[in-house]
Amino acid sequence: MNGNRVTVRRALVGDALSAHTVLLTAKDEIPLAPNFTSADHQKWVRDWCRERQVWLAHVDGSLAGIMVMHVTEVRYLVTLATYRRRGVGRTLIRHAVAMVARRYRCGVKAKTRPENSPIVTLLTAEGFTPHPVLAAQHGWLVYSVGKVD
Ligand SMILES: CC(C)(COP(=O)(O)OP(=O)(O)OC[C@H]1O[C@@H](n2cnc3c(N)ncnc32)[C@H](O)[C@@H]1OP(=O)(O)O)[C@@H](O)C(=O)NCCC(=O)NCCS
Repeated sequence: MNGNRVTVRRALVGDALSAHTVLLTAKDEIPLAPNFTSADHQKWVRDWCRERQVWLAHVDGSLAGIMVMHVTEVRYLVTLATYRRRGVGRTLIRHAVAMVARRYRCGVKAKTRPENSPIVTLLTAEGFTPHPVLAAQHGWLVYSVGKVD
């Protein structure tokens, strides 16, 4: 990692459009609905922001990545292509682990495809392991760290 300063804050409803845009940049890498640009999907992202499930990472003040949580599970983690390998994803994952431990007193889950080596490498480096009970479904693996259901 270089010396860029990564900061994390919770997204507000007013950040929904930016959050939606960052997710969309990874449409070829993560499972987004083909009509993710639709008003319905934009509203979902707004709702996630309202429900305090969205976190934004900035590098030196510029938006660089996003994490969408569903309670104790990381639903989406995306770093803008130009900010990759600068510690943005790692910072967001560490934020999720600390936030979930504080808020829910348990560990964190993240579903991924085993062939997605950037996220698998990142999760493994942060202590996540394939969940022993939650079985692979439709080619997905559940990684977890800490005590999860
Ligand atoms: C996965 C993703 C979020 C990682 O974000 P990032 O900000 O580039 O990750 P970081 O810079 O914090 O990387 C931390 C560590 O993860 C691992 N890692 C990250 N990207 C990697 C890659 N392309 N290849 C191998 N290891 C990688 C490395 O161990 C890295 O540490 P290092 O740079 O010191 O070697 C990013 O690649 C991405 O947005 N991918 C597309 C969306 C996606 O697939 N999201 C996951 C499922 S929702």
